[in-house]
Amino acid sequence: MLSHEENELLTRVGPGTPLGQLMRSYWIPALLSEEIPEADCAPVRVRLLGEDLVGFRDSNGRIGLLGEHCAHRGTSLFFGRNEECGLRCIYHGWKYDVDGNVLETPAEPGASDFRKKLRHTAYPCQEIAGMIFTYMGPRESMPVLPRYEWADLKSEQIFPVKSLLLCNYLQGVEGDFDSSHTSFLHNNNIRNSERLKRDGAPSLDAEDTRYGMRAISIRKFGAAQIYVRTSPYIMPCFSIVPGPPTAKFEEDDLRGFRFWVPIDDRTTWLYILNMRKKPLDDDERKTLRSWIEADYSRVRNLHNDYLIDRELQRTRLFSGIQSVNAAEQDGCATETMGPVYDRSKEHLGYSDKTIVALRKMLLNAVRDLAEGREPPHVIHDPREVDFSRLRSLKGVLPAGTDWHKVMEGLGPNDG
Ligand code: FES
Ligand SMILES: [Fe+2]
Repeated sequence: MLSHEENELLTRVGPGTPLGQLMRSYWIPALLSEEIPEADCAPVRVRLLGEDLVGFRDSNGRIGLLGEHCAHRGTSLFFGRNEECGLRCIYHGWKYDVDGNVLETPAEPGASDFRKKLRHTAYPCQEIAGMIFTYMGPRESMPVLPRYEWADLKSEQIFPVKSLLLCNYLQGVEGDFDSSHTSFLHNNNIRNSERLKRDGAPSLDAEDTRYGMRAISIRKFGAAQIYVRTSPYIMPCFSIVPGPPTAKFEEDDLRGFRFWVPIDDRTTWLYILNMRKKPLDDDERKTLRSWIEADYSRVRNLHNDYLIDRELQRTRLFSGIQSVNAAEQDGCATETMGPVYDRSKEHLGYSDKTIVALRKMLLNAVRDLAEGREPPHVIHDPREVDFSRLRSLKGVLPAGTDWHKVMEGLGPNDG
């Protein structure tokens, strides 16, 4: 359990909050490329870390992320005209470029140059793998965006989606670092006798890594085998979870790199960057998107009780919630805690070991930053950015095996 103060420290993301500062030390997703698909298209509202912003793509294809409210008298730039390399406010015609420069103030007398003294809030952006990343911290300490596996994949090998989670990011994040729930919440065939032979109370571990942490779970598979899974937690709020149990990691497994991005204290975007070596076809893409509405809310959500089917719950699904993607079942588990769960009320057991380690790491990172030390995985040296071999691993091994040693042979290392 956390004290009330620690809980506040880890869940409040707005400007000036300690965790907000931590999040602003990294590049984080702001948009999907599909939201602003072409030059001079309509701008979109972006709420990120409690700040209201507007995203747009200018005539040259450059991406801008500006403070939503016009520097003149505050009209929303969401309604602005995206034209001739800038976004123009519809109230008095002030025009901004992607860097926040005020290019024109047409209602001012010709000789006025007071626009040159102004600089509107503008966060730098970079587009990669169908996603637009931004950095919202001080310019002088801007890090580089590490290169993960997806940086080198072709567009046919990736399919990023995003969906709305109606709770604080940490509730989502903790689900990805909690291996023990998978035996229950994601048991989609309660009569599967093979599954029943597996161990529902895995032994757990968490290790500090240079990118953040790694959770390890080891389950008994009958008497002779163990099933090992590793899940990286990548600072500040990214994760990779292993797919369903199979003998070993395969490059051709469909897998997801996940980003839990705080919209504000009470809502979160979950970005899932689906990827696979073999190209994803149109039908697969349709399925991978089918649990998300056009506005990125979820088909099964808090307001419709996740369309729980009690008959299915009795006969087949442990949760009673159908899922295209396990995230729908996770959504029920995490959103129904309330928008910002008060962790001073919880009762932790052994199965929460990795969660405890994760919170400790985050609290340390927040305190480090407050005391002027750089948190983990903030990278400035371009020679250190290669994380392309970072994976979530899994493997069935003979009981008693030293998994650390054997994992190295199961697939790319995990950093
Ligand atoms: S409020 Fe935007 S130009 Fe006046
Ligand atoms: Fe889950």
